Amino acid sequence: MAQTVTISEISKYNGQEVTIQGWLYNMRSSGKLRFLLVRDGSATIQCVVFKNDVSEEIFTNVDKLTQESSLRVTGKVAEDKRSPLGYELQVRDVDIVQIAEEYPISLKEHGVDFLMDHRHLWLRSRLQHAVMLVRHEVIRAAREFFDNRGFVLVDSPIFTPNAAEGTTTLFGTDYFGSKAYLTQSGQLYAEASAMAFGKVYCFGPTFRAEKSKTRRHLTEFWMIEPEAAYYDLNDDMKLAEDFVSHLVQSVVKNRRRELETLERDISKLEHIKPPFPRIHYNEAAEMVKKENPEFKVGDDFGGADETIVSEKFDKPVIIHHYPAAIKAFYMKRDPQEPQSALAMDIIAPEGYGEIIGGSQREDDYDTLLQRIKEHNLPEADFKWYLDLRKYGSVPHSGFGLGIERTVGWICGTKHVRETIPYPRLMQRIYP
Ligand code: 4AD
Ligand code: MG
Repeated sequence: MAQTVTISEISKYNGQEVTIQGWLYNMRSSGKLRFLLVRDGSATIQCVVFKNDVSEEIFTNVDKLTQESSLRVTGKVAEDKRSPLGYELQVRDVDIVQIAEEYPISLKEHGVDFLMDHRHLWLRSRLQHAVMLVRHEVIRAAREFFDNRGFVLVDSPIFTPNAAEGTTTLFGTDYFGSKAYLTQSGQLYAEASAMAFGKVYCFGPTFRAEKSKTRRHLTEFWMIEPEAAYYDLNDDMKLAEDFVSHLVQSVVKNRRRELETLERDISKLEHIKPPFPRIHYNEAAEMVKKENPEFKVGDDFGGADETIVSEKFDKPVIIHHYPAAIKAFYMKRDPQEPQSALAMDIIAPEGYGEIIGGSQREDDYDTLLQRIKEHNLPEADFKWYLDLRKYGSVPHSGFGLGIERTVGWICGTKHVRETIPYPRLMQRIYP
């Protein structure tokens, strides 16, 4: 009996006979040869069936195989310099598990709506598969980054009684007869956790009833949010640029093959290293005004405005000191310029837009209470949050990085819907 192995580890078995188990991606015939492209989720390998090497029955059965049929293939691992994997399998035996019905996603081109309706199958396709492996690496590297720096994972709840990021994008739900919301951000709880553990991060799905149908917005997306006691805005920016660099360099190192599959220009990623350019909101606003006459200083940047700024740099750019009026209630203002929040966003290059939003938090009880009132937020729901400013309040900061936008940028994917396994959009909740 040959050993069962995964395709991605095939190089360890050069010259040996092994069994792989997977699905047929494609098949080519030429005389007495059949070339089966078999994928097992880890990678794809070409399996060469030579008529003289297998029984009559096996050779006839191979011709019955359809796209996505499941099968076990046994054969000898041989080097093949031309294939991306570097190896092929010289087949001795094929065990058919199931002959697949006619597969909807044939290897020709399909429209995006059709593909999205078949997302449960589309994930098997070469490019989608590569994007998901990059996503996996981004998440692995993100946890590694914080774990190595002494940040403790303390997750925030998903059902919440209050709004963290404005009341217009809340998803409400019934919670045993009272109203609850799906969280927009784990930040407020992460602040409480930081007062208990010093440096923390939370990581989970977050929800926003975004009515904008852009290529950057999902209604359900994953956010990783560090929060650290005694960090000011500068510490926060430093942490964020080190973090983004670590994510990009980890993918470049560990998922190069997938980036090549996606035809990503890797040289653009290789030099994503600290320091990132840092510019004041006012400076960014001047850049935008020159190219977008509609823009007024004081406005928030739209997607196109962010692109105007990011085009000027070949690294992510940090914009800081946004007007307090357009930012969240919890942000601390700069005592030197009270109209500005100690806020920062990181805008990815090449038009991928904002990937990080963060700030130093208001740590004074009275000021925070006043902001809660100004924003017409229900004071009672924030009692616990205000408590943090009563019992050993300290300067503290944090940020949130959107996994999908980051993966989209790293992969060079046009729309975030391809960066999450099962996207949720304003007009899509199936499959
Ligand atoms: O800038 P945002 O709204 O910041 C916060 O939620 C803070 N409470 C985070 C913190 O300080 N702990 O969102 C952070 C990031 C954005 O930069 C973006 O990458 C992503 O979350 N994001 C979205 N991604 C996909 N679809 C959406 N609708 C998104 N909204 C935000
Ligand atoms: Mg933001």
